[in-house]
Amino acid sequence: MDLTTNYMGFHLPNPFIAGAGPLSDTVAGARRLEDAGASMIVLRSLFEEQITAESLATHQALHEPAHSFGEAATYLPEPSEFAVGPQEYLAHLQRVREAVDAPVLASLNGTTPGGWLEYARLAEQAGADGIELNLYVLNADPEIEGRLIEARLESVIRSVSEAVHIPVAVKLSPFFTSLANFASRAATVGADALVLYNRYFAADVDLEMLAAVTHLHLSTSADLLPRLRWLAILFDRVEASLAVTGGVHTAVDAVKAMMCGASAVQTTSALLLHGPEHLRRLRTDLAAWLEENEYANLRQLVGSLSLSRCPNPQVYERANYMHLLQTWQGVSAE
Ligand SMILES: Cc1cc2nc3c(=O)[nH]c(=O)nc-3n(C[C@H](O)[C@H](O)[C@H](O)COP(=O)(O)O)c2cc1C
Repeated sequence: MDLTTNYMGFHLPNPFIAGAGPLSDTVAGARRLEDAGASMIVLRSLFEEQITAESLATHQALHEPAHSFGEAATYLPEPSEFAVGPQEYLAHLQRVREAVDAPVLASLNGTTPGGWLEYARLAEQAGADGIELNLYVLNADPEIEGRLIEARLESVIRSVSEAVHIPVAVKLSPFFTSLANFASRAATVGADALVLYNRYFAADVDLEMLAAVTHLHLSTSADLLPRLRWLAILFDRVEASLAVTGGVHTAVDAVKAMMCGASAVQTTSALLLHGPEHLRRLRTDLAAWLEENEYANLRQLVGSLSLSRCPNPQVYERANYMHLLQTWQGVSAE
């Protein structure tokens, strides 16, 4: 079965991408992902705060040896808290690039225009085949309007796209008043691909400790559902290819995401749970599903249930909300 797909300008042998996460933190880990069939590898993110913290530290060492960083630095984690600093990140990227044949994407996480974006260019020089911009933003300041944040994010995408010659993917957050509008603008200012979408880790309250806590829970297939709607809505309406991240654990999950419009599928939690070799299972099951359902190739599937092609598009739209609420029949007593 032909599982090839086109994603952000790459012709990939299959749609399964190893999403950003710890499995490619070592060269051996990246090789294992490729051996299991990952068609692309996205490295963990290098964070704006990491780069800013390191340049503040350098600045302090050069210019203010007797002083502390000042107030700004109190908001930032210590450089030593990070697993790897910016230089180590670039060195690791270079080593992974040399060790595998699959395209390797560097991931940059940040939300404000600034000097840290220089790292996109440095990542390209270190051999990255593409950049994934992880736009994880959480604004808690009531004075800052949404449109200001969107303008900043747009400026980040534009700066990175202009700085490099390699393709740029943008990993979006679901929290936009008009996700379709922002996605379209992201594509206009240079995003070659959109990745839907970031998982946000909610804070919980620990009643024993009387403290707020956050835990990183791995996803389940249930996380896929909100992504399906937006893949379906955006397919064929933005000038960028689409990938899903979040909730792909089985080949059936991948089929659903691609029917809605994803041309590639990222997976992280499933590989952490079952090991990189799970990629083999995903590929075999996907090929079997396509054969059983008489598809000639994978590309035939992509977008077949998107908003514009779906026989009942109202399911993706607001009208369905009213219908669901008004036709609920109650929980049947078993
Ligand atoms: C342990 C762990 C580390 C992660 N690190 C990153 C990261 O550095 N950058 C990033 O963009 N996403 C990161 N993610 C998010 C994943 O790339 C992915 O978007 C998310 O887990 C949803 O996909 P999944 O359901 O396949 O896990 C991480 C996820 C996990 C579980």
